[in-house]
Amino acid sequence: MSGSESGSSRAGGPEGGFIELDGVEKVFEVRKKTGFMKRERRRVRAVDSISFRVERGEMVGYIGPNGAGKSTTIKMLTGILTPSAGRLRVAGIDPSRERTRLAHRIGVVFGQRTTLWWDLPLLDSYRLMHRMYRIPDARYRENLDRLVELLDLGDLLDVPVRQLSLGQRMRGDIVAALLHDPEVLYLDEPTIGLDVISKSKVREFLRELNTERGTTVLLTTHDLQDIEQLCRRVMVIDHGRLMYDGALAGLHEVGESERTLVVDLERELPPIDAPAPARVVRVEGPRQWLAFPAGESAAPLVARIAAEYPLVDLSVREPDIEAVIATMYGEQAERAIS
Ligand SMILES: Nc1ncnc2c1ncn2[C@@H]1O[C@H](COP(=O)(O)OP(=O)(O)O)[C@@H](O)[C@H]1O
Ligand SMILES: [Mg+2]
Repeated sequence: MSGSESGSSRAGGPEGGFIELDGVEKVFEVRKKTGFMKRERRRVRAVDSISFRVERGEMVGYIGPNGAGKSTTIKMLTGILTPSAGRLRVAGIDPSRERTRLAHRIGVVFGQRTTLWWDLPLLDSYRLMHRMYRIPDARYRENLDRLVELLDLGDLLDVPVRQLSLGQRMRGDIVAALLHDPEVLYLDEPTIGLDVISKSKVREFLRELNTERGTTVLLTTHDLQDIEQLCRRVMVIDHGRLMYDGALAGLHEVGESERTLVVDLERELPPIDAPAPARVVRVEGPRQWLAFPAGESAAPLVARIAAEYPLVDLSVREPDIEAVIATMYGEQAERAIS
């Protein structure tokens, strides 16, 4: 590859994805002490040939279990880490080669560590950002006012960061990430450890940021409610590989999940004799729970039970997304072992 920047704006144009990954890999060399004077070198493939594109204005969830490679991906997207292989572009920029230029166009929030100055009042951190990013004065003031109001930080600007609660600090970090009007915001576990109120404040803010300002958002989270409330599209990563990329609803089919038919009978009876693969998974007095494949209609099962049992009431429960994803991870783990 040449060192020239020419042509680098092509991929970020209207015809290309705003964020583009093609076969991106990241391999870490880890040295492990295995005994006295003995060290073993091990290669960890944290990200394994990942390809996806995100269009301008999308809000995408990026989820997966611990150690899946989410943070490593985000770090490559900011230029903190250089990919071991593959091609990566954000707004047409190769992040690791032009990290500073990219920094003016992206914002990033790491839930696990703050970008704010620990001993300084919030406002001083923002003043430093103002200078660092060379944000024009009027724009800085306008953004600061708007963000501080939206994230309800007005009373906290004079408080040193170390005295803030986790939720307050997180909101402070989000303001810091957005003062320079970035086109894309990466959030790595922004709701981790937050109380319910702070979580909903953050979610509401992100929704508004995305719909009203069109900011592209890539959201990594453990909290599937974040995804359910914010993202139409979700990408699932496990062991560095992209397992799923699509609508949240589609996960149900991929995960081979099950729905539950909850049946109230007139009286306590032995488990209902249901046609496989449907089966009784729980009995509590006159109430019985039957699992059946999420992709199938409940009608035949309901008809059969209604015909053969003294049925009083019934309802169908959708699989919860958490269970679906657990199944996906489980299957992947089994495949990795065998
Ligand atoms: N700097 C590093 N050096 C060595 N291994 C790393 C480093 N960063 C991450 N890893 C490893 O890469 C894998 C993916 O980590 P990470 O991207 O942090 O996962 P996630 O954010 O999904 O929890 C893990 O096995 C982790 O231990
Ligand atoms: Mg992480």
